[in-house]
Amino acid sequence: MNSNINIKLTEKSRLDTIDFNNLSFGSIFSDHMFVCDYKDGKWQNPTVQPYAPIQLDPSAKIFHYGQSIFEGMKAYKDANGNTLLFRPLENCKRLNKSAERMVIPQVPEAIFMDGLKKLLEIDSAWIPTNDGSSLYIRPFMFASGNGFHASPANEYKLIICTAPSGAYFSGKVKVLIEEKYARAANGGVGFAKAGGNYAAQFYPTQLAIEKGYNQVIWTDDNTHEYIEEAGAMNIFARINDTLITSPTSDRILDGITRKSILQIAKDANITVEERKITVSEVVKAAKDGSLKELFGTGTAAVISPIAGFGYKNEDFDLPELEASFASILKKKITDIQTNKAHDPYGWRVQL
Ligand SMILES: Cc1ncc(COP(=O)(O)O)c(C=O)c1O
Repeated sequence: MNSNINIKLTEKSRLDTIDFNNLSFGSIFSDHMFVCDYKDGKWQNPTVQPYAPIQLDPSAKIFHYGQSIFEGMKAYKDANGNTLLFRPLENCKRLNKSAERMVIPQVPEAIFMDGLKKLLEIDSAWIPTNDGSSLYIRPFMFASGNGFHASPANEYKLIICTAPSGAYFSGKVKVLIEEKYARAANGGVGFAKAGGNYAAQFYPTQLAIEKGYNQVIWTDDNTHEYIEEAGAMNIFARINDTLITSPTSDRILDGITRKSILQIAKDANITVEERKITVSEVVKAAKDGSLKELFGTGTAAVISPIAGFGYKNEDFDLPELEASFASILKKKITDIQTNKAHDPYGWRVQL
């Protein structure tokens, strides 16, 4: 398949304009991108080309009906200069799961993986080597076909762009447990990485920020009694020494970090429960001191500890622990990702 990828290299690399010691997250883009078109019922013309704006018809269905999905993954360099990916096939599978729900054509694994590998080979020098930095990878697919008829498009694009990124440090995160809005509903698209899910989060998140919080803890749409996700991350609560996370559902994204952390925690002899978590048990545990930690998991931040939360006009602080589960598990997973530790699971993929 590699041999079928067209290659058009940039005439002038921007690499020497980048300060790799001061990288923010996802705001500068590498020299190239991978583009593949779906037309006449098949994927065609896979090309690595210079990163540049793309032309779309104003009536392209992405603009009107939001048929758009994406993924988020990272590439790392180890001490020997090898390029590493973490469970990339899981992202490909999830992209196709999202695609099915949004009536976007399935992308063959070979197109996704070969396009990704070729892109990383060409832009290998864009993968940061500083501790905590990585090349954030954004694959996405959307309806490029046009027409105002509210029905699936007949043309799509798969694009993969990359962004050298620093650590996703968000300082002390204070969150608000949501009592009114929901990010997802039963039978809806919460389990898919559909662009519209994120647009729908912006308004309630903006209201939370105005109240002095950084992020929203999403609760179920029906009763708002169950804790489901933390912003665009899965959520874990540690009550005494038990780590609890919600089971995945129609409403919850099946996070790759979440399932990796569950496995690593079990193997580190941490008691883990995958079950519904109620807001009242978290509030009660915060009041009686048994709530030791709350943290979010996701590709961008890996693990993001929560310093405190608000609920019904009351604020609760979490203790600052020396050897928190969050810090222990973050070290274990990032050591596997960056080849600083043995990977007993076969998750790390070297290019
Ligand atoms: C809504 C939501 N939940 C959870 C996650 C975490 O998933 P992952 O660990 O696969 O990055 C993400 C990010 O992809 C997300 O967008």
